[in-house]
Amino acid sequence: MKLEPNDPCWCGSGRKYKKCHMQQDEKVQIYKDKGIIVPSHKLLKTPEQLAGIRESAKVNVAVLDEVSKRIHEGMSTEDINDIVNEVTYGMDAIPAPLNYEGFPKSVCTSINNVVCHGIPSKDEILVDGDIINVDVSTVKNGYYSDSSRMFLIGDVDPAWKKLVEDTKKAVELALAEVKPWGMLGDVGAVVNEFAKKQGYSVVREIGGHGCGVEFHEDPWVGFTTRRGTGMLLVPGLTFTIEPMINLGTADIYQDEDNGWTIYTDDDQPSAQWEIQVTVTEDGHEVLTW
Ligand code: MF3
Ligand code: CO
Repeated sequence: MKLEPNDPCWCGSGRKYKKCHMQQDEKVQIYKDKGIIVPSHKLLKTPEQLAGIRESAKVNVAVLDEVSKRIHEGMSTEDINDIVNEVTYGMDAIPAPLNYEGFPKSVCTSINNVVCHGIPSKDEILVDGDIINVDVSTVKNGYYSDSSRMFLIGDVDPAWKKLVEDTKKAVELALAEVKPWGMLGDVGAVVNEFAKKQGYSVVREIGGHGCGVEFHEDPWVGFTTRRGTGMLLVPGLTFTIEPMINLGTADIYQDEDNGWTIYTDDDQPSAQWEIQVTVTEDGHEVLTW
């Protein structure tokens, strides 16, 4: 359906198309004509949707802040799951992982050689020297948010600590690439370039994703991508940056028993930080950190 200039804009702002998204759409069309992948309107969040996503993100950040305060050596990953439930339900939201495609818990807890999708358990106890990723995803009033942080337990091997810090740096470098009329491939490329320079490897098979109206939307966000490739970044596009960086090989395998947990092939540690961002007119807005 082609909108006329005086029609109401597709974004629901109530403004005339010509005074709202018409110029942006014309610009996107130029890229599309050149063969570049461009986002559909559906992926571009309206102001109302962004307001909902920000509310969800507030809960997500509050959960991670509470985990930061209470995480300690000797607790179980089930205890972390309990904190996530307490804070999330306490703020009238729902943990998005619970029952998501059969996932049995409210949060992913991934220790050392676990790359992602670790399942909390009362039998899994945090010990001195562990590094752990706590990956929190929230749905509030139908809007989704997703972010994760790393935590160091006690006295961590300096090389592992550096991996954790460098993985956060990689996310910061990726974030700097998030701007309108940039390319998603550049976001992944800086991560891979930086990680390689430090002697690490980046997981290829798992990446970030569009997020907001659904838990996992397009685009898929790889972190071993090439510059100048992938989807065009357009204001309103909302996605996660969540590279998984390994101290050793990039190769991974999936747990055959639970069907979820991903491990490094060589048992060496893996680190991950996740933020959710939206592209704005003049750069980006970080929704969760
Ligand atoms: N937070 C994870 C992600 O970034 C969610 C994995 S699905 C789950 O995509 F069911 F394991 F939570
Ligand atoms: Co995610």
